Amino acid sequence: MSSGKSEPLKIGIAGLGTVGCGVIKSLRTHGQALTQKCGRELVLAGVSARSRARERGVSLDNVTWYDDARQLAQSNEIDVFVELIGGEEGMALESVKAALSSSRPVVTANKALLARHGTKLAELAEKNGVALNYEAAVAGGIPIVKTLRESLAGNEISRVYGIMNGTCNYILTRMENEGKDFADILADAQKLGYAEADPTADIGGFDTAHKLSILTSLAFGTVIDFDSVYVEGIDRITSADLEAAASLGYRIKLLGVAVKTDTGIEQRVHPTMVPRHSAIAEIHDVFNAVVVEGDFVGELMLMGRGAGEGPTASSVVSDLADLARGGAGPVFGRPAAELLPYRRAGMRAHEGGYYVRLDVPDRPGIMAAITTRMAEYGISLESIMQRAPEGEQGGMHGVSVILITHETTESDMRGALEVIFSDGTASEKPQMIRIERA
Ligand code: HSE
Repeated sequence: MSSGKSEPLKIGIAGLGTVGCGVIKSLRTHGQALTQKCGRELVLAGVSARSRARERGVSLDNVTWYDDARQLAQSNEIDVFVELIGGEEGMALESVKAALSSSRPVVTANKALLARHGTKLAELAEKNGVALNYEAAVAGGIPIVKTLRESLAGNEISRVYGIMNGTCNYILTRMENEGKDFADILADAQKLGYAEADPTADIGGFDTAHKLSILTSLAFGTVIDFDSVYVEGIDRITSADLEAAASLGYRIKLLGVAVKTDTGIEQRVHPTMVPRHSAIAEIHDVFNAVVVEGDFVGELMLMGRGAGEGPTASSVVSDLADLARGGAGPVFGRPAAELLPYRRAGMRAHEGGYYVRLDVPDRPGIMAAITTRMAEYGISLESIMQRAPEGEQGGMHGVSVILITHETTESDMRGALEVIFSDGTASEKPQMIRIERA
């Protein structure tokens, strides 16, 4: 293993998909500039991938091929192991462990791996005195990891939230612009390659939850606790909700939010109403954005592309440049052994405003029944709106009643909606969307 500053940094990459090839292209495009910036050359020394024969559009001449990523991870031919295999278990986990155990620093873009095993891997990295860098794991090209870990070290963070899934933002943007329903836009997004054939991780909110659990650790100095993230996806959002949101002065975004409360830390991913004129409401299509609130910096927002070859490779190469320059701080901003336990603030204690859509029959007394139930749970209403389905005047087909509440607890909100549904006032399961201050 090379140690002198002027020795090249020899890189091994496992996983030669879009991002892996993007990293190789960036290293070659910017080779000379990177050498100047880092004081040493960054050289691709070894690669490993499933298929050797596949045409990738990048030359692998003079690069050693490894059939097994674990062998590459432990090879004396490399100084740093880049894991771009993906998946939270299997070869990704095994090869990262193999690299760290043999004192090779690791760069990864793997959010699922870190969400599940981040604390343990950080302990392993720190025990072996090497870095584990993962800028590309959260919001692709946006440098939010370094921002939280380094640039904002002199702050106490109170809240971090953002749009961290381009697929969901693309779908919600098109639903809003075109007035079409979720299923139609999803099918089109899949045809156009903006959504995966199996979109569960994206639209179900799990991809955002992986990223959020990493940001929570960085922001609050706690161990990663992915299982405590409350997750709701976007599949129950209708074009009627987006239209109602617009007429009430809001937009609906899939947000990941980590916030300190009196009872602990909330980690939640759900469709969220944000004021139409807030900065986060202006993030459209596949773009991502992360907002951080710190006691000294105030509010800070970073926006950019959260996925794709160029943006993700940009973050991987920045991690490599950091390693080439030397110096590695603790993986999550403080030594892994000193990360605090995560104290979960339960969702039922969440306090905030709510949007509610109730599909009800259009007959006398319905509105009174709704407001009575809300009053029984101590919920104060900010606005109330009744809408007939398009082209109808209510009557037998029913109407949508849309409510915006003042701040209340999730427990009361759920209680009221359960009763409204179970006593037959609402004909469909009520729609409930949390409103976030932004
Ligand atoms: N599938 C993610 C997105 C990118 O749609 O933003 C990788 O996490």
